Amino acid sequence: MSTATRSPQTRPPSVPAALPVLGHGLQLLRRRLDFLQEIRSHGPVVQIRLGPTRAYVVNDHTLLHQVLVTDGAKYPRGIHFRKARAVAGDGIITAYGAPHRRQRRLVLPAFNRKKVHVYADVMREVATARITAWPQDQPIDLKSEFVSLATTVATKSLFATELGTSAISVVERALPVLTRGVSLRAMDPTGLLERIPTPANRRFAATMRELHQVIDQIIASYRDREQAGEDLLSMFMLARDEETGQGMDDQQLRDEVISILLSSAETTALTMSWACHELSRNPAVSARLRAEVDSILGGQPPRYEQLPGLEFTRRVVRETLRMYPPTYFLSRSAATDLQLGGYHIPAGSTVLYSFYSQHRDPVLFRDPDRFDPDRWLPERSADVTPDAYVPFGEGAHRCVGESFALAEAMTTLATIVGQRDLRPVPGSTVRPVGTVTLMPQGLRMLAPRRRS
Ligand code: HEM
Repeated sequence: MSTATRSPQTRPPSVPAALPVLGHGLQLLRRRLDFLQEIRSHGPVVQIRLGPTRAYVVNDHTLLHQVLVTDGAKYPRGIHFRKARAVAGDGIITAYGAPHRRQRRLVLPAFNRKKVHVYADVMREVATARITAWPQDQPIDLKSEFVSLATTVATKSLFATELGTSAISVVERALPVLTRGVSLRAMDPTGLLERIPTPANRRFAATMRELHQVIDQIIASYRDREQAGEDLLSMFMLARDEETGQGMDDQQLRDEVISILLSSAETTALTMSWACHELSRNPAVSARLRAEVDSILGGQPPRYEQLPGLEFTRRVVRETLRMYPPTYFLSRSAATDLQLGGYHIPAGSTVLYSFYSQHRDPVLFRDPDRFDPDRWLPERSADVTPDAYVPFGEGAHRCVGESFALAEAMTTLATIVGQRDLRPVPGSTVRPVGTVTLMPQGLRMLAPRRRS
């Protein structure tokens, strides 16, 4: 049926094979990534059933642009973000509408190019210390290693003080408890489960208290200082709304600190994990990366001003984020009755979309399952649809930490390649698994020191 002949009340086509009670819930639970790719063939917007409720999946990149950008205000963020309020309060990752715009105005300047220069020194120092200490012949659980590395980078970039260094272990303990807590809460729209005093809920509350205590203590110590530092928290404290002249109060600062911790560490760690996986199974790519790093860095870890020269390293990271976008499956909800691609989307509906599925669509990216950093060369622009490549999202909530993440991933990869060889543990199999983020299941690697 063409868009012109459809009634404005026509709902998007249903994906077949829904089970009587569970709908497509089991498929999403057991084989989510394959399912998300298969349903592309049913149309640009499709209907799936999750238990008793319906949700709409957007499979077309121009319609996704409409949801996130053109009509962005009509599609606020979904349940996941509302549940994150238990952790991030009114921080940038949970705020909506005018308060969100205000927070974003205050936070954005802390992530501009000049500021990332300062955090790049932290990245270089942390990456060098950790990678130098990697074992010579023992398998490394790379994903955990990178989560720990990225948490240290985020914490030190937020708080460049002694207190900040001692906060690292608290933050490292807290992040997995809080992320799991938010995911579990998102699965219970009634909000009942979170009110029962189960051991998990008690642990969640205790972790929140401990984290708040540490952050509040650091904020108080900053308020007593004569001179501002150059770290992220100092930037947030200096920020003034250009319209009202107001800064952030202590509660808002704490919410922003937690927002940054929650959104930065795991996403960047996953990017580095997937890049190492692809390097270990693509010797030709690995050899080119090593040649670039050796010729530009001469055995030293990179300084920020050297990153633009690492062109192939950048393409490796870019291609990693195409094949393995860490935040691969996100949601919005329809604020009112809406039309999308000529279909009716009722008010209150959940609208889902997957960057993983979009980035692997052969109509948008030639040979999409091949790891090919050179597809990003300007002369091969016919192989990609640039506006379909959105690992950092788009619209009002587009990632503020993109330059930060790219600098961290490039610095870490260049440091690894300069020092180590990457080899999969014999017999191991790595598989992408879609949980809240895109996980490399089974990723264990040997990283012996380079011979020459
Ligand atoms: C490769 C790593 C990263 C990826 C793939 C990534 C991806 C994303 C995506 C897709 C969004 C939009 C979510 C939505 O539309 O609902 C987002 C938002 C956000 N990201 Fe990132 N991110 C990464 C690293 C970082 C880092 C390092 C930071 C901070 C240091 C950060 C801070 C944020 C914040 C604060 C938001 C919320 C922005 C808003 O709502 O206005 N991210 N990120």
